[in-house]
Amino acid sequence: MVKAGSTEESNLAVKSDMMEKIVSLCKRRGFIFQSSEIYGGINSIYDYGPLGVELKNNVKREWWKEMVQQRHNIVGLDSGILMHPKIWEASGHLAGFSDPLVDCKKCKKRFRADHLLEAKGLKPDFRQTPFSKYKVKCPECGGELTDIRDFNLMFKTFMGALEDSASQIYLRPETAQGIYVNFENVYNASRQKIPFGIAQVGKAFRNEITPGNFTFRTREFEQMEMQFFVREAEAKKWFDYWKTERYNWYLSFGVNRGKLKLREHAKNELAHYAKAALDIEYDFPFADKELEGIHNRGDFDLSRHQEFSGKELKAADEAGQKFTPHIIETSSGADRATLMFLVDAYTEVETRSGDKDAKHEIEVVLKLDKRLAPIKVAILPLSKKLDNGAVKVYDDLKSSYQCQYDVTGAIGRRYRRQDEIGTPYCVTYDFESETDKQVTVRDRDSMNQDRVAIAELKDYFREKFC
Ligand code: GAP
Repeated sequence: MVKAGSTEESNLAVKSDMMEKIVSLCKRRGFIFQSSEIYGGINSIYDYGPLGVELKNNVKREWWKEMVQQRHNIVGLDSGILMHPKIWEASGHLAGFSDPLVDCKKCKKRFRADHLLEAKGLKPDFRQTPFSKYKVKCPECGGELTDIRDFNLMFKTFMGALEDSASQIYLRPETAQGIYVNFENVYNASRQKIPFGIAQVGKAFRNEITPGNFTFRTREFEQMEMQFFVREAEAKKWFDYWKTERYNWYLSFGVNRGKLKLREHAKNELAHYAKAALDIEYDFPFADKELEGIHNRGDFDLSRHQEFSGKELKAADEAGQKFTPHIIETSSGADRATLMFLVDAYTEVETRSGDKDAKHEIEVVLKLDKRLAPIKVAILPLSKKLDNGAVKVYDDLKSSYQCQYDVTGAIGRRYRRQDEIGTPYCVTYDFESETDKQVTVRDRDSMNQDRVAIAELKDYFREKFC
């Protein structure tokens, strides 16, 4: 419980204030919009605007580069969102992918039973102990709560003309199952040997009961998942390996080390498929933290799909002996990672851009890693009269980098606009550029200015972005 007037309370206020600022920046500058806004919005679905789509694509591209391109033993896949309904029986999602809900008999509000217990500092093991034993009351009105009802999180739809139970299918709640059911196809086609991995980036859908915290928990989101197939005896080794690899991946973008944590799951927290699990957590300004899960799934998935499909999903060792591989999974959310990078990069500094019209003393600088920044280089002619020469610079750079050409407003204001969206470099084309054929390149973080020959600009940036 946070006491009124306490330091903890004021920290919480600062954090929620920061989230408000980030949400407002996202809307104002075109990173993220509420979906279907002109119709009043649709709860917990978001659209990525011109800068958001660049940022999220960069996150996904960097993940793919790290997980597939730079590893000889991981290959990619892009499987369907709609799949055979039996897959969800085999995976355990039909029986077990649910949230435990309770309703208040008085005010009719609905809550997640596990969240109510966690708020009281109790470990949510009510599946063994009846919920009523905990004597929890409605947090809104103090009313009595109903018993738990399990609510399945999968979205249902129908395939074909008939809307009957035989045509009922589901939007995938995770991309992982598409990988498992393609194991044999990929194993044969790619001629990989155990250990090897299959990676996939794609949409997943969950009818979350308590979505929220902006894009942290939504009903439609994207996952970046990799399933690594190993021998049972090596599962622990690979689990530890991936834990370190994935943790270091986030750090490699300069994410604040003090805010990034590894949290091992207790036995009673493990999902039905998991032998061991840990979360990579980020200290978001709100209570939720999980960024990515690393799971030792044992041979649960391939064994179940073999059982339900009747098809063999096995690998062979050097002696030709067949065995069912065990799986180490790394499961990250593209939207959560994008939000984390935004939150971590958000910095407020004293006025520094020289924007004389600035209404506040404080300016926002989005200190995104260069690889993630939506716009890499902004080209800013000092005057409209310099358009001809400046457009040539823009044309020269745009095939290599996502550039933005901005000619309107005072130069200080234009710097400020670029700082706010995280552009690492601004190129100013001035009157002297016409004669000396040089431009000024300003660095977002150091604010150092280099005078660079236009003819050498491509080499200059090649070095900066390497
Ligand atoms: N295949 C395992 C799996 O799906 P999970 O812990 O349920 O595991 C993995 O999800 C990751 O997917 C999470 O760490 C999170 O980054 C992302 N994720 C899950 N549910 C989400 C939601 N409702 N909104 C946004 N991201 C979500």
